[in-house]
Amino acid sequence: MYTEKVLDHFSHPRNMGEVQGANGVGMVGNAKCGDIMQMFIKVNDDGIIEDVGFKTFGCGAAIATSSMATEMIKGKSVDEALALSNAAVVEALEGLPPQKIHCSVLAEEAVRAAVEDYQKNKTGAGA
Ligand code: FES
Repeated sequence: MYTEKVLDHFSHPRNMGEVQGANGVGMVGNAKCGDIMQMFIKVNDDGIIEDVGFKTFGCGAAIATSSMATEMIKGKSVDEALALSNAAVVEALEGLPPQKIHCSVLAEEAVRAAVEDYQKNKTGAGA
């Protein structure tokens, strides 16, 4: 049912936990399953995501997709992170069962929420 990549990221999640000095934090949830995902990013002055972490209170697929999403945006620009789609995360995990696609949507939304929070903080600080 699950690919080896999914099982690997579920058993050994990358970048799990809060990030010290994070300047963008996003939290999203899925009302249907009740799962919650929190994403932390630390963006440097050049707009590059230096560090990223996540906390997921949810299913195995949600943990695997958030882990993979953190790997995919680490070292990238905030614009690249905003462009990350759930389909790209699923592809990187070599597939998810259809009933688990919504878990990857949560990962996409969590990344976007963290970047939007960062952009809001930045505007606030610069004003
Ligand atoms: Fe809802 Fe996976 S079952 S995020």
